Amino acid sequence: MNPDLDRLQPYPFERLSALKVGVVPDASLEHIGLQIGEPKHPTPSVVTDELIAHLHGLSVYPTTKGTPALRRAIADWLTRRFALPGGGIDPERHVLPVNGTREALFAFAQAVVDRSRRALVVMPNPFYQIYEGATLLAGATPHYVPCTEATGWAPDFDAVPAEIWNRCQLLYLCSPGNPTGAVLGLDVLRRLIRLADAHDFVIAADECYSEIYADENAPPAGLLQAAAAMGRADFARCVVFHSLSKRSNAPGLRSGFVAGDAAILARFLLYRTYHGCAMPLPVQAASARAWSDEAHVVANRGAYRAKFAAMLDILDGCMDVSMPAAGFYLWPRTPIADTDFARGLFARENVTVLPGSFLSRAAHGIDPGAGRVRIALVAPLDECVDAAHRIRRFVDSL
Ligand SMILES: Cc1ncc(COP(=O)(O)O)c(C=O)c1O
Repeated sequence: MNPDLDRLQPYPFERLSALKVGVVPDASLEHIGLQIGEPKHPTPSVVTDELIAHLHGLSVYPTTKGTPALRRAIADWLTRRFALPGGGIDPERHVLPVNGTREALFAFAQAVVDRSRRALVVMPNPFYQIYEGATLLAGATPHYVPCTEATGWAPDFDAVPAEIWNRCQLLYLCSPGNPTGAVLGLDVLRRLIRLADAHDFVIAADECYSEIYADENAPPAGLLQAAAAMGRADFARCVVFHSLSKRSNAPGLRSGFVAGDAAILARFLLYRTYHGCAMPLPVQAASARAWSDEAHVVANRGAYRAKFAAMLDILDGCMDVSMPAAGFYLWPRTPIADTDFARGLFARENVTVLPGSFLSRAAHGIDPGAGRVRIALVAPLDECVDAAHRIRRFVDSL
C-alpha cells in the first residue's frame, strides 16, 4: 500500500467520536450538534425543482469539463460577484465544475505538486484538514502558518521565511476562514500574488464561505478580484474554489467549481479526466440555476445573522464571542482545555462542539487551536438559542 497513507492524521470528527466514547449525556435534553459545518437550512426549491426536472439526464455520461450552460452561469456569477471585467472570465478556459470543493482541493495538490523536488505546501493553521491530507498524499510536506488573535485571525504570512517560500509549490488560502471567519483583504491577496510570482508557486484560494458574510454592503474580496485589479487578465498562478454547499444550503448536491489560470486548469482537466470525477447532468442543471439566483443567498445570510445576534446576546460576558466578518462559526476561548470543555458540554448539556485542537497542529512553538472550540451555527434558530443557554449554564458551572 502507499506508505503516505500512514502520514494521514485521523479526521477531526473521528477524534471527536473517540473523545465522546463512554460519555452518557443527560437524556432529558435533546441533542444539539454544532460540531460540523453542514448547513441545516432547507435547500431552496429553485435548486431542487431544477434537479428533478433534469433527472432524465441520468441516462447520459457527463463530460468532466461540464456543460457550456453551467460554465457560462459560473462565469457570469464570478463576473457579477467580484466585479470582474466583462468577458474576463472565459467559460471555455477559466472554469471547471467540481463535485464539491473537498474533492477538488484534494485533487488539485495531486495535479500541481512536482514530487521530484522537495515540495512544500503552505497552509493556514487551524485549517480544513483536506489541505494537509492532499499535501501528504502528493508527497509534499505541509508548512503551517498560524492564525491567531494577534494577526486578526489571518495567517501570519510575515512570519514565513524566504527559504520556505522558495520551496513552496502551492499555497492554500481559506478566506473567509474556517474556523476563524477572518477575511483576507485585497491588499493581502495582491501581496500574495506578488510572492507567488517571486517564488514560483500556485495559489489555491478556498472561498467556499465567501457568500456567508456579516455586512450586506461589504462582501469578502476574492483572489480573482485581486488578480484582475493587478491587470492580470490571465489570472496567472491564481485558482479559486467555490461551492454551493454553504451558499445554497446544498451540501448533498456535491457541487462547486474551480476558476482561474487557464494553463493550470487545462492540466487540472487532464488530471480530472483520468480521475473520473464528472458531475451528473441533473446536478449541473441545478447548479447552473443556483449560481444564477441571489435571492435565496440573501435570505440565507439573513438567517445566519439572526442566529449570530441571538447567540452573541446570550453568550455575552460568558465567553469571548464576537460576530465574525464572515462564515458561520464562533471560535471562543475555553476556560478549561478545549477537549475537556467539549466532553463536559456533551456530558452535561448534550451539546456537541468541536475542540479547536482537532483543527490545528502544534507547529513553530504554538498550537493555535488549543484552548478554543468551534461552534457551527448551522442548527435552526430555536436550537441555536437553546444551545447558547446550555453553553452559558455549563460555563457558569465551571
Ligand atoms: C474550508 C472548507 N473548504 C471546503 C469545504 C468543502 O465543502 P464542499 O466539498 O461541500 O464544497 C468545507 C466544508 O466544510 C470547508 O469548511
